[in-house]
Amino acid sequence: MSILKKIQTNFGVKKTHTHWPGLIKAYKKWLPVTDKTPIISLQEGATPLIPVNSVSELIGKGVKVYVKYDGLNPTGSFKDRGMTMAISKAKENKCEAVICASTGNTSASAAAYAKRGGMKSFVLIPDGYVAQGKLAQALVYGAEVLAIKGNFDDALKIVQELSNKYPITLVNSVNPYRIQGQKTAAFELIDSLGEAPDWLCIPMGNAGNITAYWLGFKEYFKKGISKKLPRMMGFQASGSAPLVLNKIIKNPETIATAIRIGNPVNKNNAIKVKEESKGKFTSVDDKEIIDAYNLLAREEGIFCEPASAASIAGLLKLKNEIPTNSKIVCVLTGNGLKDPDTAIEKNESCLKSNLEPNINEISKAMGF
Ligand code: F0G
Repeated sequence: MSILKKIQTNFGVKKTHTHWPGLIKAYKKWLPVTDKTPIISLQEGATPLIPVNSVSELIGKGVKVYVKYDGLNPTGSFKDRGMTMAISKAKENKCEAVICASTGNTSASAAAYAKRGGMKSFVLIPDGYVAQGKLAQALVYGAEVLAIKGNFDDALKIVQELSNKYPITLVNSVNPYRIQGQKTAAFELIDSLGEAPDWLCIPMGNAGNITAYWLGFKEYFKKGISKKLPRMMGFQASGSAPLVLNKIIKNPETIATAIRIGNPVNKNNAIKVKEESKGKFTSVDDKEIIDAYNLLAREEGIFCEPASAASIAGLLKLKNEIPTNSKIVCVLTGNGLKDPDTAIEKNESCLKSNLEPNINEISKAMGF
């Protein structure tokens, strides 16, 4: 008898998990792939949708808030959803190298999936403004990491030109396959909730993800799988809020380095999403972001990165506008482990160090 069978018999377990094949195989009929597409996957997707009661209670009015914890993807961010598609299509098209500009997560994801697909990757990042975990990932996965004396917007311009000039595939969210892969998060939400939420709250940087979610919601709606469409509520950091202010920000700044972007490439798509969904774009300052970040960790045991907490900070800011009894999903785009420096610096817990290794001293430090 196999070990698995024994466990099942002895503990009365009837069924084990159904194997999740990764989002391309799971949502194949909704994606531009054929039987000839080589699927480059790390079994991304199927991330948890978690109720966050402390946030619901802060709002009251019978509102139910959930987080879509996309920081639990294989490289720790939602980028893996788009990257499995972009890299699979690049492989299908016989491409040998990919390139991207990144505030960190795209580069981590591109580096991982490129390697899995047997390709080379080049990543351009703003020197000094990428969280340590993300930089470590790109290096460990073996990308050529090129740090520039400029910001994300400068880097994006350069990689767009380079990909036109050389045989390298661009895997930023201007690559349409990225959006196709990322739309599956909206499918998963509806598959879990049985219906679209009333509001979707999402942080915006280059505005690819809000574009992708809206596409996913519209596709399920069109086929009658969901009966309603959510209002798309996009949030930016107040120091980098080009979509809220409707102007290019030359020197964007925020503690949420993932969304430190002043000239989003998907600007027109984002404006269309806002109009079509009767949504709203709002900014939150760094303090509001860090408060929400700590709230999630301390009240819910959920560790996301600062940019992701903008969705919760934004929702709380719009508290008075939230309809009674509504269902709301906030997207947590990246894992808190990505940015250990911010975590340690912005933490209110006290670290008691230099303690002698004896019970008396430790008990005293514990308050006994
Ligand atoms: N949240 C996180 C954690 C991100 O890394 C990003 C974007 C966003 C939100 C915003 O998503 O650009 O689709 O609106 N990060 C990109 C990167 C720019 O290079 O990793 P968006």
